Amino acid sequence: MKKVYIETLGCQMNKSDAERMYGMLEYCGYYQTENPKEADMLIINTCSIRQLSEDKAYSQIGVWGKMKKSKPDLKIVFAGCVAQQGGKNVLKRAPYVDLVLGTQRLYELPNLVKKIEAGEKVVSIEEKPFEESEIKINRVKGVNAWIPIMEGCNNFCTYCIVPYTRGRERSRKPELIIAEVKKALSEGFKEITLLGQNVDSYGKDLGEGQNLAWLLRQINAIEGKFRIRFVTNYPTDITDEVIDTVIELDKVCEYFHIPMQSGDDYILKKMNRRYDYATYKKICDHIRSRIPDVTITSDFIAGFPGETEEQFENTLKAMTELELDYSNTASYSPREKTVAAKWVDLYIDENIKTERLARLNEHNRACCLASNKKYLGREMEVLIENYEGVNKRGISVITGRTRNNKIVHIPCDRDLTGEFVNVKITNARTWYLNGELV
Ligand code: SAH
Ligand code: SF4
Ligand code: F3S
Repeated sequence: MKKVYIETLGCQMNKSDAERMYGMLEYCGYYQTENPKEADMLIINTCSIRQLSEDKAYSQIGVWGKMKKSKPDLKIVFAGCVAQQGGKNVLKRAPYVDLVLGTQRLYELPNLVKKIEAGEKVVSIEEKPFEESEIKINRVKGVNAWIPIMEGCNNFCTYCIVPYTRGRERSRKPELIIAEVKKALSEGFKEITLLGQNVDSYGKDLGEGQNLAWLLRQINAIEGKFRIRFVTNYPTDITDEVIDTVIELDKVCEYFHIPMQSGDDYILKKMNRRYDYATYKKICDHIRSRIPDVTITSDFIAGFPGETEEQFENTLKAMTELELDYSNTASYSPREKTVAAKWVDLYIDENIKTERLARLNEHNRACCLASNKKYLGREMEVLIENYEGVNKRGISVITGRTRNNKIVHIPCDRDLTGEFVNVKITNARTWYLNGELV
């Protein structure tokens, strides 16, 4: 019996791809191991959203290259977004790699494994998606199952590498998605998160009437108690139909992740985002007015080329004014091929970027705490994800999430993982709530 170890960097899409790779590789006789030292095949699933993530991929692969010296039969696979971008160049930089696997060739993995087992070196990055069929998926154990519904992006924001690494938008067939949802539920998962770079684009390449709202209705109709989430939304693409599903459908949760990137109109234009601050605010206000207790989270970039102090302050102002519940933050990292990377003269000094990122994070913490405080004293439904056993203070704790995606810690000495419980919120912290079972 041979063993495979996958190291995954980057976003949920990569994590989901890893679950698929593990499933497909079982057909080739490779079983999952958590220990890279005992593996016959090592796969790195790379991310290129920022320079740092790309560097991490190459430094990891360097360590594996050394392992191969004492274990010549070891197969090394370089997959994911850096692979798609690098192609043959990956082999120049890391000649010990056996297979460079592009993001759109994922389902071709079993065929390619046969080739590398026969001693070939293979680069497979053709931008034509490889036809997928129903496959075995080895999901990470837990409560939430991530299910991709679309992949790729047509937006070409000027800072972002994703359109170059994940190709154009493509929707997965609804029957495949629904079969995956049913399978995950039969395996005991209690929450389904539909995944895509722009979930609002779902169905644009499918038949009439097949869109995100339609898909949510199909999935909501599946029997059983479970929750449905979806990420990520593009601000101006969110339809009223989708908002209606959140209101009307019992399983669809009150949570939207809507990256804003900047609160300044000039920077938004330079980023090629298709909205200004007032438009984003209108969308947020509209969602909040229709869905009580909705959580809205966002992403922001500090230090985009040319960003002035005043423009940066508009981002801080926006975060507070919109009462965003949480935001992912990052400082701008130039990415090869993207438009903004060419504006070298406008690059912001590293120290200023670091300082702006720190201020962004400080505002984020304040927003999170303010948002959490709104729920003090409230009774909320929590889906338990984890049982921690007895902690240092002699108390055992269970942890879960509310429908609106707030993390709650609850003292409890029973492992209730996978159960829905009602909880009274007793304390609000920056990153989580405390509660008691009722
Ligand atoms: N599709 C989503 C985001 C995908 S990338 C959207 O439209 O917003 C995830 C996040 O990474 C982005 O929201 C952005 O905030 C961040 N990001 C992307 N490129 C970046 C770069 N070059 N430097 C810093 N952050 C970046
Ligand atoms: Fe990147 Fe913009 Fe596409 Fe999001 S919408 S993946 S930020 S190009
Ligand atoms: Fe995800 Fe990173 Fe690729 S964020 S889509 S793995 S560049």
